[in-house]
Amino acid sequence: MTTTLVADIGLLVTHDEERPERERAALVIDGGVVAWVGDARDAPAADRRVDAAGACVIPGFVDSHSHLVFAGDRADEFEARMAGRRYEAGGIRKTVRLTRDATDEQLLARATSLVAEMRAQGTTTVEIKSGYGLTVADEARALRLARTLTAETTFLGAHVVPAEFAHDRDAYVELVVGEMLAACAPSARWIDVFCETGAFTAEESRRILSAGAAAGLGLRVHAGQLGESDGVRLAVELGAASVDHCTFLSGADVDALAGSDTVATLLPGVEFSTRQPYPDARRLIDAGVTVALASDCNPGSSFTSSLPFCIAVAVRELGMTPAEALRAATLGGAAALRRDDVGHLRLGARADLIVLDAPGYVHLAYRPGVPLVRQVLSAG
Ligand code: NIG
Ligand code: FE
Repeated sequence: MTTTLVADIGLLVTHDEERPERERAALVIDGGVVAWVGDARDAPAADRRVDAAGACVIPGFVDSHSHLVFAGDRADEFEARMAGRRYEAGGIRKTVRLTRDATDEQLLARATSLVAEMRAQGTTTVEIKSGYGLTVADEARALRLARTLTAETTFLGAHVVPAEFAHDRDAYVELVVGEMLAACAPSARWIDVFCETGAFTAEESRRILSAGAAAGLGLRVHAGQLGESDGVRLAVELGAASVDHCTFLSGADVDALAGSDTVATLLPGVEFSTRQPYPDARRLIDAGVTVALASDCNPGSSFTSSLPFCIAVAVRELGMTPAEALRAATLGGAAALRRDDVGHLRLGARADLIVLDAPGYVHLAYRPGVPLVRQVLSAG
């Protein structure tokens, strides 16, 4: 098994509880995991050497929310929004039509190139949802394809009610909890519901999430994107790993999150791309809620694959410090996926790391839009 020394690190972020950051450090990878962390001067010999040349090294980003299996785009909708039109969940149906018409090869090629785009920007763990198929065969196909790219796959048959069920939504919910769930569960780790006006009610969401849990899937919820919703408290009540968006939250929602281990995942690319008010990360962090930052990469509400971009926006607009934003995009994402092997560089962690083209991680927000990811190591 080859060992790798990452030498001459100017600033190393490990998220170690006692010493989360250290200056003039080095790190050794053995068998794909972090085997040694210490002072640069004490670095042991290794088979291979990566020279950080005084730069900052951080854990790889954990993007815990994306929708990468789709065809086409909706640039026209974005353009109309920038001219004042509102975002509506109904736009999802256009992508559903295009996705159903695409071949497996086309969908996989698109998703693969988006994962590569993410990786070039430092993402080393990604969650991918279905949700643009909305038939048994198309949802199962999306998850099968996503599974070839990540272990973190999420069944989102409850994204919107598809056009052909517009007059019989109960029949669609029945399909989701029955045949569709049965076909999708083998390739999914998680189930998710879009609990929002224009998508699914809290009652429907409860039914779908409970069926998913009974099928052995972990729970995630989209809620609070367009307005306050009962979805946040429902997610907490059902023990969801994460509730995502959290743009509109009542005091009771914040209290519920603070008393739980449900992560609040903020998706600032959405507010950027839909011209909505940004979520208040400060309020959540001050209340003791665990916060994650994710891209929500999708063709409708947030077509960015870049966590550095999300970090920059989070610092500028969500009230996060650069350290909090970095933590949310690494450890926070890992917590949202209930993973303890990624999102940090403590001994024994997966050696997923980024060598930045910068002396510190503050530059991720300080130099927005600049490609600062010099090198990405994945499991060494
Ligand atoms: O996370 N909110 C629901 N789903 C996506 C939007 C998908 C779309 O507009 O195509 C989201 O924002
Ligand atoms: Fe989403």
